Amino acid sequence: MKPALISGMKPEGHMHLGNYLGALKNFTDLQNSGKYDCYFFEADLHSLTEDFSPREKRAQVLELAAEYLAAGLDPKKSVIFPQSAIPAHTELMWVLTTMAPEGELRRMTQYKDKALVKKREVNAGLLMYPVLMAADILLYGAAAVPVGEDQLQHLELARTLARKFNARFGETFTEPEGILTRANRVMNLKDPGKKMSKSQPDGCLFLDDAPETIRKKIARAVTDSGTEVAYDPKKKPGLANLIDLYAALSHMEPAMVAREFAGEKYSVLKTRLAELVIEYFSEFRSAKKKLLAEPSRIAEVLAGGAAEAGRIAEKKIAEVKKKLGLL
Ligand code: ADP
Ligand code: TRP
Repeated sequence: MKPALISGMKPEGHMHLGNYLGALKNFTDLQNSGKYDCYFFEADLHSLTEDFSPREKRAQVLELAAEYLAAGLDPKKSVIFPQSAIPAHTELMWVLTTMAPEGELRRMTQYKDKALVKKREVNAGLLMYPVLMAADILLYGAAAVPVGEDQLQHLELARTLARKFNARFGETFTEPEGILTRANRVMNLKDPGKKMSKSQPDGCLFLDDAPETIRKKIARAVTDSGTEVAYDPKKKPGLANLIDLYAALSHMEPAMVAREFAGEKYSVLKTRLAELVIEYFSEFRSAKKKLLAEPSRIAEVLAGGAAEAGRIAEKKIAEVKKKLGLL
């Protein structure tokens, strides 16, 4: 049996280059490596912690599934499903909640960031978010979890909870390891000190951005006042981010990219990068559009995945209940 691998993304619309390079591209590469039994789900329950409307949510669930498939996730190779279709995720979450240190949850960076910017009341779902994530992972015995760097803290909690449960109730869960891509922290084009995020749209390249918008955003990317193209993430973070993006999309090493553009103006790199981004995602965009024209096919893929995931999850939750002494 191969080791299990799991990851998920929230259906919230507006996928950006950071999500793609930090997570989705890696999902496809790992699936195609043939080394793992892969599970990729939509973290639709996690997405309820943010404001939404039901009609919008439905469209976002279909859209994310279309993006998964357009990026190359294949229901013949991976189990693809929506988290909310499997009740065992929330059942296990409750069990883990009773073992999760409350103070640690309050100290999670993502919680603190989100709680700080919320003007209205912070919902308790934001606090429990990492516990549901731990349940997602532990339920499938996942040994590997590909995520961006910002999720490592949550993964650490999953490891802690697995250890705690195992120590108290006997060996039940696998401690998961994170898998990072090189592009695990794509930076904001307008502020290379911050990660690219949809909350700052002008520094963020969305996969659905029109070619003209992509050209404009990259042309306006903040770089240093120097003129020499060199890869130096400390001294030239803005330029290094552009080089990293070019490298990731052209399967080159950053040093090789810097050599290729040596002696050129920054604007030459920017123009070539914009064309590379436009070209790279053109196939993705048309595949996504085609899939979205057939929502019933997408629903079929998700239902098939849910049936398969459900079988595994049910077994695990039954084992957990038994170990806890529940009937
Ligand atoms: P956002 O920060 O845009 O709200 P999410 O929190 O929904 O993105 O993240 C979805 C996935 O994309 C996660 O695995 C996360 O680690 C990854 N990710 C998000 N932003 C970046 C980024 N700038 N660079 C690399 N990976 C990222
Ligand atoms: N929290 C992750 C994010 O913000 C999404 C997620 C939920 C996840 N459950 C997971 C990722 C389990 C990996 C494994 O992107």
